[in-house]
Amino acid sequence: MARNSLTHYLIRCEREHGIDPNLRLLIETVARACKTISHAVGKGALWGGGADGGVLGSAGSTNVQGETQKKLDVIANEILVEANEWGGHLAGMASEEMDNPLGIPVAYPRGHYLLLFDPLDGSSNIEVNVSIGTIFSVLPAPAGMADDDDEAQHFLQPGHRQVCAGYAVYGPQTMLVLTVGHGVVTFTLDRDTGSFVLTQENNRVPPDTREFAVNMSNARHWDAPMKRYIDECLAGKEGPRGKDFNMRWIASMVSDVHRIMQRGGIFLYPWDKREPDKPGKLRLMYEANPMAMLIEQAGGAATDGRQRILDIVPTRLHQRVSVMIGSKNEVEYVTGLHAATSRAAA
Ligand code: AHG
Ligand code: MN
Ligand code: MN
Repeated sequence: MARNSLTHYLIRCEREHGIDPNLRLLIETVARACKTISHAVGKGALWGGGADGGVLGSAGSTNVQGETQKKLDVIANEILVEANEWGGHLAGMASEEMDNPLGIPVAYPRGHYLLLFDPLDGSSNIEVNVSIGTIFSVLPAPAGMADDDDEAQHFLQPGHRQVCAGYAVYGPQTMLVLTVGHGVVTFTLDRDTGSFVLTQENNRVPPDTREFAVNMSNARHWDAPMKRYIDECLAGKEGPRGKDFNMRWIASMVSDVHRIMQRGGIFLYPWDKREPDKPGKLRLMYEANPMAMLIEQAGGAATDGRQRILDIVPTRLHQRVSVMIGSKNEVEYVTGLHAATSRAAA
């Protein structure tokens, strides 16, 4: 086994930090599933002999959030479920693409972890050959969880209880970015050998930035502190921030957060007035929480504009949340603007 493999890194974590060997085996299974998804993504229209456009196009169904499922959303979900259900490391799984959590079939042993995932993030980019990804989160299964119990309530734990978080980005290179609570590491898929090779250790997000990522077309629907923040950025050197800002928006959270992981920045998907009853667009349990753990482990910050994402106590599996994540000082600045507005209102 190569000294810079995923297995090698995880065994090192076992020896140095006492990571559970079963968690290692679970992460290796998720990583294998991500390789399979990467292969399907790379095939595109050629997948399965090219019939019906391969992995591209709509699945003709909708998920619990009322979103149209792409074929790749469904394929990636199946790959993750099939890879993980028999290994014996899990007590249950939950996914953006499944209404309810999935228990472990009785034929297989049960483990002590819960796996949550967004099997395919950035679905709007599938057809146009732009980077997409998979996001995952691992929680401990609660002690009292019975063998035949697959109730959603067991998953409703705050993000600071995650024991592992990661994403795979399917771009020009396929990369796996991972934390088990001891910093962030990046692996690059070697397509010749089929191994994830450690290519970056101790990823750090610079505390300051001049780059923001937000869907500006929603600006007229934002609330006052959010509008003020972006107006200040747009005012550049002459404005209150005293510096010019750049903007990037890929519309795949994985790809936008990956850029921030590499060179800093802030990613925002705030609450807006289009659907006032929804706290935001992104989902807490399998999008915001794992990304927040990764970014915090790399020295950045993540809030919903008011509180730390990882401290939110969830009440629903598919709960949505406002997300402000990235370079620490920038996240603190925008969170401060929200706090000032709340104080003024009080
Ligand atoms: P998903 O494809 O899993 O539904 O997530 C898409 C999310 C996120 O990845 C991205 O940042 C955002 O939706 C894009 O939103 P807009 O369509 O408003 O740009
Ligand atoms: Mn997503
Ligand atoms: Mn998705």
